Order: sequence, then C-alpha cells, then structure tokens
Amino acid sequence: MELSQDLLDRLLAESLRAREFSHSPYSNYKVGAAILDEQGRIHIGANMENASYPQGWCAEPSALTAMIMAGGKRAVAALVTGPGPGIITPCGGCRQKLREFSVPEELVIIAGDPGGIRQRWTLAELLPHSFGPGHLNF
Ligand code: THU
Repeated sequence: MELSQDLLDRLLAESLRAREFSHSPYSNYKVGAAILDEQGRIHIGANMENASYPQGWCAEPSALTAMIMAGGKRAVAALVTGPGPGIITPCGGCRQKLREFSVPEELVIIAGDPGGIRQRWTLAELLPHSFGPGHLNF
C-alpha cells in the first residue's frame, strides 16, 4: 500500500494520541502504536504496565488486538512512538506478534516520537528468517 505523506501524518498523529493513554507508571516510558490494516483503517494501542512487572504489555499487541477485533486481517504499516530522543524500535516479542498478521516484506514499521518520524524498516529487515504460520502449513 502506498504510504502517502497524508497517511504518514495521520498514522503519526494517531500513534501519538494512543501514547497519551499509556499506563506506564513504573518505567515512565510511554509508547503508542498505530497500525494500518489491509483495508486502509487505523487501529491504535498503548503500553500497559502492571504492579506485577512481568504482566506488562507493549503498545503493539494492544493495537493488533484492536485491529483483530475490528475484523482486520493484515497489518501493512505500524507506526510506533516513544518519548525520544532515542529511536524506538519494537521489542523482539512484538516483532514476532506482528509477524503473525503480516507479510514481512510488506509490513512497514515506522519509528517516531513527538518530534516526528525518525526511521522506517520492513518487518523482514527487523525479523529476518522469521518463523510464521507457513511453517505450520497455515
Ligand atoms: N514497550 C512497548 O510498548 N513497545 C516496544 O516495542 C518496546 C517497549 C514498552 C514496554 C514497557 O511498558 C516500556 O515500553 C518500557 O520497556
């Protein structure tokens, strides 16, 4: 899918809006995610930490859950925002979760923060030689 400047602007705005919902009192590291599905719709999520630390949850699976519940089948872009200035990059577990609902060469992952868009990769670049549904014949 063509990622026009207008679409990138909308994804950034939605990701930053999602970030405001972050529940991250332990790390104080707010993360937002805005996922574009194969129908051109945007779904958002934020990280959700827990007093029992290992139960914490990243922004990307929150947005993926929203996508699935809206009937989305495939993520084609994911714009993840952190606080900056360091460039945020999805953690390993999130890369694998995104893999489940994407074509790795197609899915564009974009890093941003309140200052704007910082960097972009494909999922194939971030998670090479990935294990996916095809390995189980799905
Ligand atoms: N975090 C995300 O939400 N996504 C990532 O890809 C990286 C890390 C969250 C988890 C935790 O709530 C906080 O950032 C600090 O690690």
